[in-house]
Amino acid sequence: MPRLLEWSPRFILDVCQTKVWTPAAKLLLLLLTNYQLPITHYLLPKIMIPRKRLDIAWSDLFFGIKGCFWQQNREEILNRFKSTKFFDDNNIVCFSVRSGFDLLLQVLALPKGSEILVSAITIRDMTRIIEHHGLVPVPIDLDMQTLSVKTESLESAINENTKAILVAHMFGSRMPLEALLSFAKRHKLLVIEDCAQAYIGYQYKGHPESDVSMFSFGPIKTDTALGGGILRFKERTLLEKVKTRQSGYPIQNRWQFLKRLGKYVILNSLSNPILFGILAAGCRLFGTSHDNLISQALRGFAGSDFFVRIRQQPSYPLLALLERRLKQFDSASIEQRIAVAHTIIELMPNIRLLGEKANNHSYWVFPIQVEQPDNLMRHLWQKGFDATRGASSLYVVKPPAHRHQWRPIEAQETMEKVLYLPVYPGVSVRDLKRLAYIVTHF
Ligand SMILES: Cc1ncc(COP(=O)(O)O)c(C=O)c1O
Repeated sequence: MPRLLEWSPRFILDVCQTKVWTPAAKLLLLLLTNYQLPITHYLLPKIMIPRKRLDIAWSDLFFGIKGCFWQQNREEILNRFKSTKFFDDNNIVCFSVRSGFDLLLQVLALPKGSEILVSAITIRDMTRIIEHHGLVPVPIDLDMQTLSVKTESLESAINENTKAILVAHMFGSRMPLEALLSFAKRHKLLVIEDCAQAYIGYQYKGHPESDVSMFSFGPIKTDTALGGGILRFKERTLLEKVKTRQSGYPIQNRWQFLKRLGKYVILNSLSNPILFGILAAGCRLFGTSHDNLISQALRGFAGSDFFVRIRQQPSYPLLALLERRLKQFDSASIEQRIAVAHTIIELMPNIRLLGEKANNHSYWVFPIQVEQPDNLMRHLWQKGFDATRGASSLYVVKPPAHRHQWRPIEAQETMEKVLYLPVYPGVSVRDLKRLAYIVTHF
């Protein structure tokens, strides 16, 4: 069949990627140009291995849904937490890590203008919370090979206004804290350990010398309950104050939690490479990026009423689901994750993995540093691997206006070139080999 329209493939590609044209018009265009660009590019989905698999089973999701309809006593379930190996009298369950951190800062009531040293990479909301309390986050650069804070940066950042250190273990690694803890002791600083990305079960409940350790059970986290955060306190007096403060919060509406469960039933289906491929093809047809769509869907507490949303107590169904997840957690899943990561590391020995020299790494995600991350990401999409650059809205903390010289250079330069690969249990060795081959030959 002759082509009715002789338009350049580039033009057709551009048109198909705009939002102005409706899918029907795009289809017509493809027909008129007699598939000058392969129609499969737009319509036929390719199998695509998703960036990550939610760490939750269907049975857990249905348990959560059941809990929304058959509620029991919240106090009883809170007491039952103590029978899990992870939880004890020094812990509190919050709505999320962000909620717990905000509660902590309310209770501490540090003088306005006090500074908190923050390990250079974290999520934006953590520094937003610090600033909301009239405090100043000061970044501390990271050694990106070990993912640990640089002690020399700590020394140069401290001054008489410094009151605390917020240190986040990144990407599933866990940095040694001894040097940081003795630095904090010398300068009488509170140490807040952010273990949101480092949960591995009861084998690590936070460093015993940290003042506060925080664990997240948000949707993309290990052993997720689609929400919830657990904070462990060294000092019971501080814990009691946080508990009292939290008791004045409204309790999360269970129907809100049901809505969240519904959303994750859909997102969990997308861990199937065929369905995920259909989604990616659909996005191409509508001129949107599946990457943005997924990132937006996974963003928690989006919107202007951020502080109203985080200042809640977890609902009964969220607590029940979290208790179940803690109880049923199997550390073999972490060992499997480590084994998969080691398999692909061996297949691409020259690729720079963030945290390649970390002592403790459980590979919650698999970030690599490459020269052209955007190009490699698109290339991998075409080959059926959903690599991404934007896992969990991480960012590099900016120094206060008058202290530009304290820019965390290593963290900044590394994160500009970061790409997260889909590496987790469930990806076959054959696919890991293919992925390693594509990455090393790009
Ligand atoms: C390093 C870090 N800190 C804090 C948080 C916040 O955890 P939550 O979602 O429980 O508030 C996250 C979540 O992604 C995180 O990655």
